[in-house]
Amino acid sequence: MRRATGLDLRYLNALQKANRDAVGFFGTAALFKYVSRGQVWLQLENDEPCGYLLFNDTPGARIRRVRPGTATIYQVCIQTDARRLANATSLVEALATEARRHGFDWLDCCVTDTIAANDFWPSVGFAVVGRRRGGRSRGRVLNHYERELRHDPREPRLVYPDRESV
Ligand SMILES: CC(C)(COP(=O)(O)OP(=O)(O)OC[C@H]1O[C@@H](n2cnc3c(N)ncnc32)[C@H](O)[C@@H]1OP(=O)(O)O)[C@@H](O)C(=O)NCCC(=O)NCCS
Repeated sequence: MRRATGLDLRYLNALQKANRDAVGFFGTAALFKYVSRGQVWLQLENDEPCGYLLFNDTPGARIRRVRPGTATIYQVCIQTDARRLANATSLVEALATEARRHGFDWLDCCVTDTIAANDFWPSVGFAVVGRRRGGRSRGRVLNHYERELRHDPREPRLVYPDRESV
């Protein structure tokens, strides 16, 4: 696993486009913003990317109406030839560890209710906590998932943004 850089934008864009129905779409400028903040991680297979995780853990970000202490996953996407090999699980677990270390108490994400990924999120400890309408154009219903990170109170809370791990 490694953080994505500007050199990975083409790869991210292509995989995102191929899975647009499931993961939605960020333009290149938005992708670059998350990349430059270290909020896009690549899963590697034989040193080559096979998928990515895009999240927002910017403190105080006005991300929808989620409770404080929540880091939000916007996209997780694995190439078709690398699925069912625990690649997405590795990315999500790495984020859970990192987010917990930085004092977050929750991870959340929103997922269209008709796609196969609804079988993935419970397998990594997420549960549906609500449902809401997606964008008007497609009229979809989104499942809002959350996972509690169960911060261990014996661990010192590190001052954000010390994030040398990953
Ligand atoms: C959903 C997705 C990220 C899962 O990635 P993955 O690397 O294949 O997931 P994992 O191998 O870590 O799966 C862990 C478990 O989740 C469940 N799961 C994952 N994909 C599933 C599917 N398509 N159907 C049913 N269960 C599934 C299984 O229980 C699986 O364990 P198992 O393989 O031992 O049965 C991948 O299929 C994908 O990129 N899909 C397109 C984009 C997308 O839908 N992203 C999520 C919305 S943001």
